[in-house]
Amino acid sequence: MSDDRYCVIGNPVEHSRSPWIHARFAEQTGERVAYGKRLAPVDGFPATVRQFRAEGGRGCNVTVPFKFEAAALAGALSARAQLAGACNTLVFDGERVFGDNTDGAGLAGDIRAAGVELAGRDLLLVGAGGAAAGVLGPLLDARPRRLVIANRTQGKAQLLVDSHAAVAQANGAQLVACGLDAIAGAFDVVVNATASSLGGGPVPVPGRVLRPGALAYDMMYGPAAQPFLDWARAHGAAPRDGLGMLVEQAAESFLVWRGVRPDTAPVLAGLRALLAAGG
Ligand code: ATR
Repeated sequence: MSDDRYCVIGNPVEHSRSPWIHARFAEQTGERVAYGKRLAPVDGFPATVRQFRAEGGRGCNVTVPFKFEAAALAGALSARAQLAGACNTLVFDGERVFGDNTDGAGLAGDIRAAGVELAGRDLLLVGAGGAAAGVLGPLLDARPRRLVIANRTQGKAQLLVDSHAAVAQANGAQLVACGLDAIAGAFDVVVNATASSLGGGPVPVPGRVLRPGALAYDMMYGPAAQPFLDWARAHGAAPRDGLGMLVEQAAESFLVWRGVRPDTAPVLAGLRALLAAGG
């Protein structure tokens, strides 16, 4: 019996760690899974998916810049993918394509792994682009007391508040939007979902938003996360990069495909060691 085939589709995709992570999950669980990567041309996502399905692929992860297109391509969406308006996970079932989004569950899971309970806490989400939209629903499902979305363009934060109002209410969470210069109060958890570091910009919020000992989480990892992590440390917060989120969202995708949830802690430790060794 041959292995079931999966892959990650993106552009760029060359440096994706997902094949390494899923290889560890397959070893750990004994699932017969072969996971590769596919570069899709920017205008060729549907054709790349079609080709992989024709070759017998069972599902795929989707990364930048195709997560919105993936949601449009799927014939049916999970509730969390519908709320995010984006998919990072597709399941191929005969002629049908089911779309899911495990990014938010991955972030919430890694915050829990960091020993922080979101229920009843005050949470600041900085940014209102695709990365923020992808995680907002599961963050609200963790029942924070207050979740503030602060964004350079306040109108985009307000759109996210509007689209998530019912989820916030169902979870008893206060959800509000504001501009970066109008953030009221301090927070137990601050999540950076902006792309400001990619353009060499400074951390776009003042240090006073961090309560002493707050968790300061950057959804990126590697050099892109470093300015935020340094800023957090300088202000007495506990910094954490997004490598754990990467492993957790992968584990959630593995669960969607295989019905088994791998143990993430040893895989994250192995990945950190690999990156530290320059691998
Ligand atoms: P992604 O899919 O990574 O979220 P995106 O949709 O382009 O990418 O969103 C980028 C986010 O980073 C947005 O919240 C953006 O703010 P705007 O909505 O005002 O554009 C934010 N961002 C990018 N550069 C920034 C900077 N220099 N300062 C503050 N916020 C920035």
